[in-house]
Amino acid sequence: NQPGTIFEAIGGHDTISQLVDAFYKRVHVHPALQPIFPDDLTETARKQKQFLTQFFGGPPLYIEEHGHPMLRRRHLPFPITPERKDAWLACMEAALDEVNIPEPYRSAMFDRLTLTAQHMMNTPEDQK
Ligand code: HEM
Repeated sequence: NQPGTIFEAIGGHDTISQLVDAFYKRVHVHPALQPIFPDDLTETARKQKQFLTQFFGGPPLYIEEHGHPMLRRRHLPFPITPERKDAWLACMEAALDEVNIPEPYRSAMFDRLTLTAQHMMNTPEDQK
């Protein structure tokens, strides 16, 4: 484990795993998100654990298995409107609270995720 990273500071693999499970539990029942996600989120959650591990400074698990993330490109098949961006972030914010990520990590994580989520929008609200 890399000292001095958010990944390390919040508790490593266990915490990322709990966070992602708390997140997809909400995505699964969110009316704006449920239609674009698969019914079975097992594989989605597995990839997200790999991705967020490396995103917050842990080992590069996602890139090792899937190559360069190219996140915006991987999201192009899904109509991501401003409403869906806000819904994704609301699920993530509630998940950060559920697993009790302490400050200053909670805000640092949410700020970085917000920037990335903004980059993922690809569809205006009225074209979904
Ligand atoms: C995959 C939606 C933002 C990381 C996906 C999938 C959907 C989705 C529908 C495909 C799930 C599947 O078929 O398994 C959204 C929406 C977002 C959003 C609505 C709102 C802005 C983000 C952000 C990140 C992220 C901010 C990273 C910080 C990923 C990853 C995958 C993924 C790593 C798996 C890619 C793969 O197949 O390898 N997302 N996403 N997403 N998303 Fe997002």
